[in-house]
Amino acid sequence: MERIFSGVQPTGNLHLGNYLGALKNWVGLQERFECIYCIVDLHALTVPQDSAALTAHTREVTAAFLASGIDAKNGIIFNQSAVAGHSELAWLLGCLTPLGWLNRMTQFKDKAGKHQEKAGLGLYAYPVLMAADVLLYKATHVPVGEDQKQHLELCRDIAGAFNRQYGVEYFPLPEPQIFGEATRVMSLRDGTAKMSKSDSSDNSRINLTDDRDTIARKVRKAKTDADPLPESVKGLEGRPEAANLVGIYAALAGTDRKAVLDRFAGAQFSAFKEALTELAVEALGPIGEAMTELKRDTATVDGVLKEGAERASAIAEKHLAEIRDLMGLLRCE
Ligand code: TRP
Repeated sequence: MERIFSGVQPTGNLHLGNYLGALKNWVGLQERFECIYCIVDLHALTVPQDSAALTAHTREVTAAFLASGIDAKNGIIFNQSAVAGHSELAWLLGCLTPLGWLNRMTQFKDKAGKHQEKAGLGLYAYPVLMAADVLLYKATHVPVGEDQKQHLELCRDIAGAFNRQYGVEYFPLPEPQIFGEATRVMSLRDGTAKMSKSDSSDNSRINLTDDRDTIARKVRKAKTDADPLPESVKGLEGRPEAANLVGIYAALAGTDRKAVLDRFAGAQFSAFKEALTELAVEALGPIGEAMTELKRDTATVDGVLKEGAERASAIAEKHLAEIRDLMGLLRCE
């Protein structure tokens, strides 16, 4: 079976944008792929972190995976630092990566800002660690957002450089796994701003820990405009709040905006919001309950990560032994 690898940074206060942008799609991939999902705590260290918060966020993302329906029995969920092979392979691949390739990375330029000489080596080497994440498991497919496409391209280049250097077809060149209609979830208070954990208004977002009543209240309160719903997707242009709510409905229902408008064309927001409230409560209510439960139950969460790291390590160690051999690193029995 083909293998998916993806990573997500440990962050707190996960919300609907995180769920529809990544988690929900990742759940769907499990039917068709062997899935390895990693909480990339080593990548998080490329910017300053509070130690206690990093630990808490690693558990919180794990809880969100489980609450969203990611199956840690068939798939693997673990945190990156628990499998030492990620750091080792990053070094090995770093030795094959020309600086010219890294200098092209737009994310580094954005994050480092004007004073590049003050940026850490880790931030610069970030894409090499990401390539190591994927290649350590010889993953064939990687679901990534728009912002990570360049990094995945670099991963393919590094895989190719390794294969050429050692005259082997060892690493598969991983394919980006693209999803249908991309869901950009916007604030419920302002359809032109992204839904964000740092928005001062809690009503602007649906948190993955929100209970059913809170979800319903926030959807009912969401900003709209005065017109009924349009007949076509084109009619959503210039109506950011309408576009956002229709997009959220489509993503939660697992359909597209056209299908939603076929059903609700001409409807008033009052009616559409009632339908959206019902859908959101049904889809997100159980996630909120599971999240709340798992946030208390760190033993369960840690158990999942521990077992995941053991299973990931078994794959990683096998590959690393092969890689060390190909590179001529002496291994005495
Ligand atoms: N850089 C990715 C992000 O910020 C996270 C990530 C780390 C990742 N390693 C990965 C994604 C490997 C896909 C595959 O979103």
